[in-house]
Amino acid sequence: MKKHLYALLVIGLIMSSCTTAEIPLEEDPDPILTTITYTADVKPVIDNNCVTCHGAVNPNAGLSLTTYLQVKNAAENGNLIARMNNALNPMPPAGILPAQTRAIIDKWRDDGFLEN
Ligand code: HEC
Repeated sequence: MKKHLYALLVIGLIMSSCTTAEIPLEEDPDPILTTITYTADVKPVIDNNCVTCHGAVNPNAGLSLTTYLQVKNAAENGNLIARMNNALNPMPPAGILPAQTRAIIDKWRDDGFLEN
């Protein structure tokens, strides 16, 4: 019996050491069933959460997120998705966005970064 508990403890330790800061475990958003596009879904998220700092003029980190190509490039070739999901150093800096909001960007990537 004691051995059994010890094994459970070890398994628990291994599992907890494997979790990353990227995806908080308690959040499990409902899967998005529709196809995600920039114009309908992604642009509103970016406009509401990013363009105050990443606007067209003098953007923070030199990163403007005001057009389809800019956002696509940052998501495809840059750090946009990683930073939005980085619990320790998130974008926006004020706090990581809800899992359901971040899932929109992840699904946009899975759907192929469509514009419309
Ligand atoms: C309050 C201002 C502010 C907001 C809002 C904000 N950012 Fe940032 N962002 C910054 C600053 C300052 C930096 C540079 C410092 C750093 O990397 O932490 C930065 C850096 C970044 C970088 C890294 C750029 C690089 O070249 O490595 C990405 C990607 C990014 N932001 C994306 C976003 C996204 C996406 C949003 C919205 C979901 C967002 N940011 C919202 C201020 C902001």
